Amino acid sequence: AKIRGAQKATGRIVAGRIPVAAKKLALVPTMGALHDGHRALIKLAKENADYVIVSLFVNPLQFGPNEDFDEYPRPLEQDLAVLEEEGVDYVFAPEIEDMYGDLEDVTIVSAGAAGRILEGEFRPTHFDGVLTVVAKLFNIIRPDFACFGEKDAQQLALVRRMVRDLNFPLDILAAPIARETDGLARSSRNVYLESEDREAALALSGALAAVAEAASEGVEAALAAGREIYERQPLASMDYLELVDAATFAPLSEGFTGKALALTAARIGQTRLIDNRRVTF
Ligand code: PAJ
Repeated sequence: AKIRGAQKATGRIVAGRIPVAAKKLALVPTMGALHDGHRALIKLAKENADYVIVSLFVNPLQFGPNEDFDEYPRPLEQDLAVLEEEGVDYVFAPEIEDMYGDLEDVTIVSAGAAGRILEGEFRPTHFDGVLTVVAKLFNIIRPDFACFGEKDAQQLALVRRMVRDLNFPLDILAAPIARETDGLARSSRNVYLESEDREAALALSGALAAVAEAASEGVEAALAAGREIYERQPLASMDYLELVDAATFAPLSEGFTGKALALTAARIGQTRLIDNRRVTF
């Protein structure tokens, strides 16, 4: 059919309606203390959307009672300078009162059983807190895309599942782990690490590398090789080192073939760090 208006407006006939290119918005949720891992997420956001919004919010709901909520770094001025430098369009930096009413009694998004394994075993309320704040950010900002890092692999998997399960109308984009030159995964918590602790923190990436190297010998042998790295580093206290199916997060049994993920967490003094790495069996 001929649509006269359309012909006039665009110079060509379109069937039914004139397409309007809607501008896309990408959200990068963070807790601030920005580093190169966050910068990589911002770049990913810029590549995929017209506008980028970064949230800075140290979410009390995802910290356990004996965790570092009070000490967590909050260098706001420095963070705003980074965002300016990266050409970010909007910043959302709410106060706790803006986000939550009574913190003791709020509606919580449950991460379910998948939120109680690995990190969840050591931080039982953590992923419920993460999913709750992420859901709120999605509803407040209504982005077309939201960007997350593979550094927090379990968080990324749980956010992807929440988007599916709760029908959030957006796409999740993921960026690979940004590392220091010696292999340490970048983290806002790395500022806690001094001298020998900084050296000891290499046990995480070292253990994961050992797992990957020994993968041809099977699941148990690979994990044993990783644990050996921890045993040689007395300043590092391992919480877990596990291999899971990369698609389902199910623990691997001996004889598994395919794409796996090696995940680890360890405490170096008071500082708790996590890392992960893809391993093919
Ligand atoms: P935060 O630790 O500030 O991390 C924000 C985002 O940056 C997360 O998606 C995280 O995976 C990513 N990230 C951190 N270090 C990275 C690295 N070395 N390489 C690549 N990406 C990295 O994760 C959170 O905050 C919070 O749980 C949040 C999702 C904001 C909810 O409060």
